Amino acid sequence: MLTLWRNAHVATCDDSMTVYEQGAILTRSGQIEWVGDESAMPKSGPAEVRDLGGAWVTPGLIDCHTHLVFAGTRATEYAERLKGRSYAEIARAGGGILSTMRAVRGASEQELFDQSAPRLQSLLAEGVTTIEIKSGYGLTLADEGKMLRVARALQRSFPITVKTTLLAAHSLPPEFAGRADDYIQVVSEDWLPALHGEGLVDAVDVFCESIGFNVAQSERLFDAAAALGLPVKMHAEQLSNLGGSQMAARHQALSCDHLEFSTPADAAAMSAAGTVAVMLPVAFYCLAEGHRPPIAAFREARTPLAIATDCNPGSAPGTSLLLAMSMATRLFGLTSDEALAGVTRHAARALGEQDRRGVLTAGKAADFVIWNIRSVEELSYWIGFNPRRSVVRAGRVTS
Ligand code: NIG
Ligand code: FE
Repeated sequence: MLTLWRNAHVATCDDSMTVYEQGAILTRSGQIEWVGDESAMPKSGPAEVRDLGGAWVTPGLIDCHTHLVFAGTRATEYAERLKGRSYAEIARAGGGILSTMRAVRGASEQELFDQSAPRLQSLLAEGVTTIEIKSGYGLTLADEGKMLRVARALQRSFPITVKTTLLAAHSLPPEFAGRADDYIQVVSEDWLPALHGEGLVDAVDVFCESIGFNVAQSERLFDAAAALGLPVKMHAEQLSNLGGSQMAARHQALSCDHLEFSTPADAAAMSAAGTVAVMLPVAFYCLAEGHRPPIAAFREARTPLAIATDCNPGSAPGTSLLLAMSMATRLFGLTSDEALAGVTRHAARALGEQDRRGVLTAGKAADFVIWNIRSVEELSYWIGFNPRRSVVRAGRVTS
């Protein structure tokens, strides 16, 4: 059945950020058939007509970097950080990622699902229709698998597309203390093929940092991913510049994420490779970082810029992509248009989904959000206010 969504301001988020002020969208079988000015609408057969009363429509939002599946919280660590203890100090004392690892190992699949679902629902309420979810708090084959299975189960239970990422190279588990090379070898040669064989892995990520894994170790993991035909991405240049993003660009990484310490040469290498620079301003805010990502260099190099929540219990306990947009504009200096492209078109590219979603053009998924706003700038303007009217996923109204 054909559906006509009419009388709307349609922000397509295509390359030229085309807006149709008297716009309409034709959808059928979960796909967009046509988008444009109502006056230019092609003759079509009978359609169910939805009058949107002049509302704004954007593509469904895409949160392209999350650690949404986890157990417990690290609120007490946050309280300690407020008193002056550093993130790295807490990590060295066995807290940080390893504290969440213990909580995840101790949780059943059902418990993990039950704790993660409300966070997903918070994102759904803001019009998020596609999300990436990483493993990385299990750090055994069984527990990484458990996290990825929960991510798949969330997709089955909610109206959302979930892309899974194996982030076993998030932190060195205690079983491998002092043996990071051995750990990377086991992840590359045993865990990755096994989890990929179960259909649980859409991409592979690594925390490339002095407190994570080095560039050589990251590259071994990327080679293993390439051998299985899997795309890669990287937590890069967050606290220092190790040169990870240039290596990632050589491997045509989908994205490099954080990038506070990136250089113009990194930006150029990423741009040439089509690698998206994912900004994570909530982590920057929560860690009270001082070093901003070089937005001017990304613009100059024309590196695509995405924005994500980084939802995780340590550095970014946030489930609002709209707030991440606000922070990306105010803290990092992105324009409203850059922020919107960052949670739609460029976020889709960061997941390798650019041919299927992220823009409102013919042939893409009929995923869109109808907003109670007067201008599209409101999406990065409000702080803690959600102007979503309703959400359409695969052509159906889901909320
Ligand atoms: O993206 N870099 C590491 N990963 C997360 C933090 C994880 C945690 O502290 O639990 C990040 O910021
Ligand atoms: Fe992260």
